[in-house]
Amino acid sequence: MGITRRDFLTRVGQAGGYSAAFLTMQGLGLLEAKAAPAVSISAAAGSGKGTKVVVLGGGIAGLVAAYELRALGYECTILEARERPGGRNWTVRGGDKVAFLDGTAQSCTWDQGHYQNFGPARLPSIHPTILGYCKKLGVELQVEVNMSRSAYLQNDNANGGKPAVMREVVNDTRGHVSELLSKSIHQGALDQDLSKEDRDRMLGFLRTYGPLDEAGKYNGSDRAGYARTAGAGDQTGVLNQPIDMHTLLDESFWQGMLFDEQFDMQATMFQPVGGMDRIPYAFAKALGDAVKYDSPVTEIRKSPKGVTVTYKQKGSTKTIEADYCICTMPLTLLRSTPNDFSAPYKKVIDECTYASAYKIAWESRRFWEQDYNIYGGLEFVTTGCSPIWFPSAGLFSDRGVLVSGYTDESNSPFGKLTVQEKLAESRKSIERLHPGHGKELEKPMYVSWGKMQYNEGSWIRSYGPGQQRAGARSAQPGQVQPAASARTAVNPGYETLIQPDGRIIFAGDHVSHIVAWQEGAALSALRAVGQVADQVKAAKLANGADKAISA
Ligand code: PHE
Repeated sequence: MGITRRDFLTRVGQAGGYSAAFLTMQGLGLLEAKAAPAVSISAAAGSGKGTKVVVLGGGIAGLVAAYELRALGYECTILEARERPGGRNWTVRGGDKVAFLDGTAQSCTWDQGHYQNFGPARLPSIHPTILGYCKKLGVELQVEVNMSRSAYLQNDNANGGKPAVMREVVNDTRGHVSELLSKSIHQGALDQDLSKEDRDRMLGFLRTYGPLDEAGKYNGSDRAGYARTAGAGDQTGVLNQPIDMHTLLDESFWQGMLFDEQFDMQATMFQPVGGMDRIPYAFAKALGDAVKYDSPVTEIRKSPKGVTVTYKQKGSTKTIEADYCICTMPLTLLRSTPNDFSAPYKKVIDECTYASAYKIAWESRRFWEQDYNIYGGLEFVTTGCSPIWFPSAGLFSDRGVLVSGYTDESNSPFGKLTVQEKLAESRKSIERLHPGHGKELEKPMYVSWGKMQYNEGSWIRSYGPGQQRAGARSAQPGQVQPAASARTAVNPGYETLIQPDGRIIFAGDHVSHIVAWQEGAALSALRAVGQVADQVKAAKLANGADKAISA
């Protein structure tokens, strides 16, 4: 018995609810796929059986996508250009080589056990997706110390150029602000805004918060530390002189002070024991031969049945046919990869811009721990490179690897220096904050993601002219971002990228609101898998519909 489309859809709706009817209509071409709501994966176990997906790129997004696809029964292959998994998630150790696109190379000769995460190097506790995979895959985590109250802040134009310790800056700022507020209340400036009761409560609060004396003055505080610490016998403690308010109002001081107030920089933060690359290697182990290394993609074509991808493997050209493609490659690379993307996608790819974040790392005696009581954390400095980032691993051992310089160097005067000049700048900042210790730095390693083959950028900055995204990190890693509400621009390039281009679906941190974080990569991958599953479901229903209609 034949039935009409309308009857069929009504029945699908009755049996499977609104979403089944919706997907069926989509599959029948009655609705534009674009209108599909963003859903997390809601696909039945085994629903991927018989469907082939090719994943382009073996970074976090590609690995998560393949892992979840396989769990649903899909047949899945990752094409990864390098001989290792992880993409930007890259840990460099002694014996490793860093090669740039311009043909220059550096060899790492650090001692056994030393490493630097040149890509992601911290995992916030508010990133449950990537932390969840660590747990699931048995990646052991340890605390990453993002900020230390013993670390320094410095600006040539403030405080006579003298470095200040974080605990002074934090607590003296609080003291001055409290004193001003207390004064305003005493002078009646807030009588209109606060009831008598709340004024009294506020004054009580400020006395402890400041802390302020009975007269409402901030006279310094032991929270800000000591010029001479208290000891045994007759050694009394001598408090630091408070830093004056004018100095603390300098941007470079309060920016550094507020760094770990940012949502994604707050304690507690984590890192895998032994290096960030423990994460991609754990995925790779779980995925086995689904990951094809040494397989750079050279062409991405749509076909009547799906997608055809051409790649190189050990010099020979190969192709792979699949029903769907999840493409996690950096947009900078897609620019020069022949493809069949629709016009709006080509436009984003052509017009987007990427940052080139770099890090310079050195091996050294742990002078920061041994001579300054600094264990992990960031320091901010205006001379040379900033920030300085002390290691959280191997605390109390003799030597370690620190970072001096981590910013976006694209379109910057720093970016134009030679590598030797950059290294000299990096050493200078250490010398500025820790005089005499610049010369302890050895075996420098410099990685800049814009210079890396298969990356050509560290993270997306804009999706087209005027299309800076909230998470796109226009500012430097060492700067505090403006409040989130100030950063929610409408962004057509991004809106394009998050929709499937037929059977090609984009993923990666650039296809999320959490740019430059592994969490964004993982979430975009989960969403992409959901989009594949939706299309598969819709196609199956449509297939059933066609059969029913023609029967
Ligand atoms: N996630 C990267 C980091 O931890 C990049 C980033 C820097 C993201 C600053 C946000 C803010 O450094």
